[in-house]
Amino acid sequence: MLSSFVFVLLELLNTMPNRKILVTSALPYANGPIHLGHLVEYIQTDIWVRFQKQRGNECYYVCADDTHGTPIMLKADREGITPEQLIAQVGKEHILDFTEFGVAFDNYHSTHSEENKLFSELIYKRLQAAGHISSRSITQAYDPVKNMFLPDRFIKGECPKCGAADQYGDSCEACGATYSPIELKNAVSAISGAKPVEKDSLHYFFNLADFTGMLSEWIKAGHLQPEVCNKLGEWLEGGLQQWDISRDEPYFGFEIPDAPGKYFYVWLDAPIGYMASFKNLCDKQGLDFDAFWAEDSDAELYHFIGKDIIYFHALFWPAMLSGAGFRTPSAIFAHGFLTVNGEKMSKSRGTFITARTYLEHLNPEYLRYYFAAKLSGGVDDIDLNFDDFSQRVNSDLVGKVVNIASRCSGFIAQRFANGLSPNCSEPALFQEFVNVNEQIAGFYEAREYGKAMREIMALADKANHYIDEKKPWLIAKQEGKDTDLHEVCSMGINLFRLLAAYLKPVIPALAENAECFLNIASQSWPADAKPLSGHVINAFKPLMTRVEADKIAAIVEASKENLEKTAGQPKAKRCEPIADTIAFEDFAKLDLRIGKIIKADPVEGADKLLQLTVDIGDETRNIFAGIKSAYAPEELEGKLTLVVANLAPRKMRFGISEGMILAAGPGGKDIWILSPDEGAAAGMRVK
Ligand code: MSP
Ligand code: ZN
Repeated sequence: MLSSFVFVLLELLNTMPNRKILVTSALPYANGPIHLGHLVEYIQTDIWVRFQKQRGNECYYVCADDTHGTPIMLKADREGITPEQLIAQVGKEHILDFTEFGVAFDNYHSTHSEENKLFSELIYKRLQAAGHISSRSITQAYDPVKNMFLPDRFIKGECPKCGAADQYGDSCEACGATYSPIELKNAVSAISGAKPVEKDSLHYFFNLADFTGMLSEWIKAGHLQPEVCNKLGEWLEGGLQQWDISRDEPYFGFEIPDAPGKYFYVWLDAPIGYMASFKNLCDKQGLDFDAFWAEDSDAELYHFIGKDIIYFHALFWPAMLSGAGFRTPSAIFAHGFLTVNGEKMSKSRGTFITARTYLEHLNPEYLRYYFAAKLSGGVDDIDLNFDDFSQRVNSDLVGKVVNIASRCSGFIAQRFANGLSPNCSEPALFQEFVNVNEQIAGFYEAREYGKAMREIMALADKANHYIDEKKPWLIAKQEGKDTDLHEVCSMGINLFRLLAAYLKPVIPALAENAECFLNIASQSWPADAKPLSGHVINAFKPLMTRVEADKIAAIVEASKENLEKTAGQPKAKRCEPIADTIAFEDFAKLDLRIGKIIKADPVEGADKLLQLTVDIGDETRNIFAGIKSAYAPEELEGKLTLVVANLAPRKMRFGISEGMILAAGPGGKDIWILSPDEGAAAGMRVK
């Protein structure tokens, strides 16, 4: 019943001319880099927006950095910069990452903006005037050293239920219990390590319960996915609580009007950031803000979000909007979470991959296609499996789609001076490709991208099958068959053109390069496409290369390295067990000396070795050391280090090594030679 209703609605939307649509993705926090998990959302939204635009709808896609709150304030503090400096820097990085992934916002703004301050105050004042705000004093954990109230996540202690150590103030990762931070045993502030004290303070609340009726109606009215509806139904039945919307200073955010020292909680002004970013766009482009946000607006408004933030978007946000006299969202589209190779993204496994690391190794359109192939309109998690990723991209995009163009373009170039045939030899086949456009559009509209990709790949199979049957490579060898050859290859190119149009929302860069090759204007949705005839195309250049397996390995490796960088000091992976005990006499046999490296040279034919000339007091030694991967020769010259001076000389392929220098570390870049404290001199014995 519900699904047929949705279906009719989709049909209706598809046939409406020039819809006015405003689309948002959740605002990423400004305290960390964009990673592949985030990209599920931004790529999903971007595909939808590109599709709407290609269909000729008036569609805007806005987003912003979510800049307020305690974690951002504390991170700036740790880095010795102001929050403003931190968010400016992170904002730049976010925009660069999104741009390179082809995520084409019409506007990217910040919640720390004039517009956002204005709307936050306006909405708050309207809610207050309508009696939806109340205030009362509450008791919370307070850090007496840092002089600030502690959010739950910044208190650590032992779980009151199971006793597990080192648990956060809101829930236990060991037993899953949830509790209030006051119940934690032996609690400490994660910021200063001090024992938190309890302190009272006046807080402001949004009376969500005032909107119980409105929200029940709204939830029933078809704005949400069925799974989300069920979840919200449960929350509503449990009764809606007041929402605490204020935080005490020190806080990075907007001060609440007429409440000195009190700030809006970050989640109050974050969704308002959607409006702020759109207002900023309106001012730049002369658009009508009210046409999209006024209570009686007939524009469509959609929020793409992850399933972790449904509560904020499907309860608080519509209630706030309705209470303040604005329109409510047309729909909220929640998606699931990304796993990598079947598991939660993990820093130690190298599967917590940032957008930047990916971009340093692979084509972003591989990932756009892969996510599209896996996405549905539901909230299921999606898995990035590296083998599946390479296989799908290679077989679908390179092996099927691009292959059609490369199979046909050679003959068109060599035999027909890049001109296509004036005649379409298979109008029925061409029309079949055009006719599926409504079905593919329906899948895009419903965010069933996986189904859309399957439909498009079935067409690609059909096109390849057509070429396989006609065998242009054989026709090319036959006398007097020029017209046949011309028509078959032109047909192939015409079918390729339709595939490029259908894939354009997903792989826009490839589609644009295809347009260049085809020598055509930017393709709109091919609802009534006609074959190109007697048209001259350009020379074919490979449109996409295969995914190389070693690039994926390099990404995983680099993601592990990133972890070491962020952890500061690299940690020994696992300590080797301590060797068997030896007698002092055994140790005394070892003659360790301070040595001064006088000269260091690479060794021809040995890629790991350096040849060192080391002064050990009364003599100099020639020592080969396997440290080239970690040290440049010039770094070593003049350095003091530790030498095993009585080791039997060893004959190596490059000469005799007369001793050994001591170093620690697993190898590669991670080798550290030892050096004495200042004052030690070459020749001194180490005892
Ligand atoms: N700042 C809030 C959103 C405020 S919207 C008014 C926030 N930021 S976030 O950076 O943590 O996440 C941004 C979006 O990315 C959210 O929709 C979130 O669900 C999504 N994702 C973050 N990690 C994700 C995965 N691993 N997988 C899929 N989506 C993920 O929440
Ligand atoms: Zn527990």
